[in-house]
Amino acid sequence: MAFPPDILDRIRAHFPLSAFIGRFVPLKRAGREHTGLCPFHGEKTPSFTVNDQKQFFHCFGCAAHGDVIEFVKRYERLSYPEAVEKLAREAGIALPAFTHEAQAQFAQRKSLLEAMEAACRYFETQLKRQDSMHARDYVQSRGLAPETLARFRMGYAGEAREGLKTQLLKEGFSEAQLVEAGLLIRPESGPTYDRFRTRIIIPIRDGGGRVIAFGGRLMDGAFARHAPKYLNSPETPLFKKGEVLFNLDLAANAARSAGTIAVVEGYMDAIMMAQYGFESVVATLGTAVTEPHLRALWRHVPEPILCLDGDSAGRRAMMRAAELALPLLTPGYGLKFAQLPPGEDPDSLVRTRGAQALRQVLDGAAGLSDTLWRVCSAESAASAEGKAALEYRLMGMAARVKDATVQKHVRAFFRAQLWPQKGKTATPARSASHQAMGAPPRLGGLQVVRQLLKLVLLQPALLHRPEVEEYMTRLECVNVPLSSLREALLIAAHEPALEDYLKLYEHLQNLGFSHVISSLLKDEAILVPREVMESPEGAFRAWCAALAGHQRAALEEEKREIEQRLKQDPGNEEEYSKLLALQEQIRHATKGLFMALHEESDEAY
Ligand code: UTP
Ligand code: MN
Repeated sequence: MAFPPDILDRIRAHFPLSAFIGRFVPLKRAGREHTGLCPFHGEKTPSFTVNDQKQFFHCFGCAAHGDVIEFVKRYERLSYPEAVEKLAREAGIALPAFTHEAQAQFAQRKSLLEAMEAACRYFETQLKRQDSMHARDYVQSRGLAPETLARFRMGYAGEAREGLKTQLLKEGFSEAQLVEAGLLIRPESGPTYDRFRTRIIIPIRDGGGRVIAFGGRLMDGAFARHAPKYLNSPETPLFKKGEVLFNLDLAANAARSAGTIAVVEGYMDAIMMAQYGFESVVATLGTAVTEPHLRALWRHVPEPILCLDGDSAGRRAMMRAAELALPLLTPGYGLKFAQLPPGEDPDSLVRTRGAQALRQVLDGAAGLSDTLWRVCSAESAASAEGKAALEYRLMGMAARVKDATVQKHVRAFFRAQLWPQKGKTATPARSASHQAMGAPPRLGGLQVVRQLLKLVLLQPALLHRPEVEEYMTRLECVNVPLSSLREALLIAAHEPALEDYLKLYEHLQNLGFSHVISSLLKDEAILVPREVMESPEGAFRAWCAALAGHQRAALEEEKREIEQRLKQDPGNEEEYSKLLALQEQIRHATKGLFMALHEESDEAY
């Protein structure tokens, strides 16, 4: 649905972005931007920025990005037209009549939602009726608490062929609407009739909590009719089975504190888990996990947990999900797999063995690479040929990861598993230079961070060195603009299109970094030796020297403290031997670092 661009501009202009977003998210001014905790994914350090000038927000943690309309759309989980409508109303801006087609579509959606809501209320009432005793007995036998029934708005469709139909026609809905909504079936000949009959009804809600479809379960003893155990609404303008996750609206809220979302296979499983306190849980609707599912999950949490059966069907489902996820992975966003005990689903597990047992299953979830390694290596023969096939298979999987940073780490992980004795070269984290570099600075680190960042900014190719990249990744960045810039540089380093530094600067400026970049470049307290600009090797030497210089400074500081203490207590032998050790460390700090790096470079390049 296209709104006239000038209307959209007027809406954007009406709401100063930081003031608007500030109503929902506490923001702090940082230079020309505002920063805060991202409302779209759980985080503890702010990576959400708002730029009033450019009229957009951007999250460096989850890549949420957009204008005021996008913000409302996401935050209130509205459709785009609904968000525009809402803002226009608040701003007193009249929306022109939509195109005929768009208007019809909008109206249709609205009336279908109303029909679904009315049907939901009807089914809820049916479950409470005097003569629905057997339905209530059934839900009780499944251990569903009354609060759970109410919370999930569970209901019942009785035996009448036209029960819902009669009621909803009375409420003013048309037969055609009800057919369109999937509530009535229109046979080749004869009158329309209720799709859901003699079933326990489970409403399926969209991300905004509106009922968009139903699932209906036959009660035990009703199977004789050769009907499927579960019947779902058909695909309608409201309901795309492969995109919807059952319970996502409640799960997304709970995920803000839980930090993750569990994905299970059945709605009964999700409902029962919620009853036992695992509220951030969603269920797929009789399909395997799809790409839209993953994208929806990653909007809320970095690593959703897929809960699958421990049997061979579960293993196949796991491999399918992994194959699907590999190309979609980005730094920080992954997938975990939890394995249920054989023969149990989450519903039966919590009910027979309690929340603790389920907790254990979820806590035992393993990451994607781990799981792929475990499954593939278990399936491969121990012979040389078997190992070769395994390597081929794993490296093929790693190659499917599109994101360069993630791909590198996945490959390094597989390599380390395949050749554990070569762990030293396979995992850069334990390399010689790494040890020599030590842990990234914490205290008084601002100047170090600024200097290292400035060098990388002047010579971005530095980030192609694994040791530099690794160190920069772990650097504690002290403040948000610097850590955001660091993130942006780490990502940009792997974009071939940004190799030209002019393009890179333009890119960073578009992301809103002009201010922090110019403050770094203009900072004359940060010395930049000429060799930085001359070659990547020169830049690397300068980068190492800067690091060594700071480490020396830290050691000298420690040495001064010990000297102070020795002045008070000259006979303290422990302090004295510490002093000797420190002096030795200082002597070797620079030299050792260079040697280690040199050695490493020879090996790697
Ligand atoms: P299961 O057969 O594993 O059922 O189907 P379940 O979730 O354990 O349900 P209970 O415990 O027997 O009540 C898993 C999911 O597959 C879809 C449903 O979405 C169900 O939740 N399904 C299953 C269907 O759509 N139709 C069916 O006939 C069966
Ligand atoms: Mn079950």
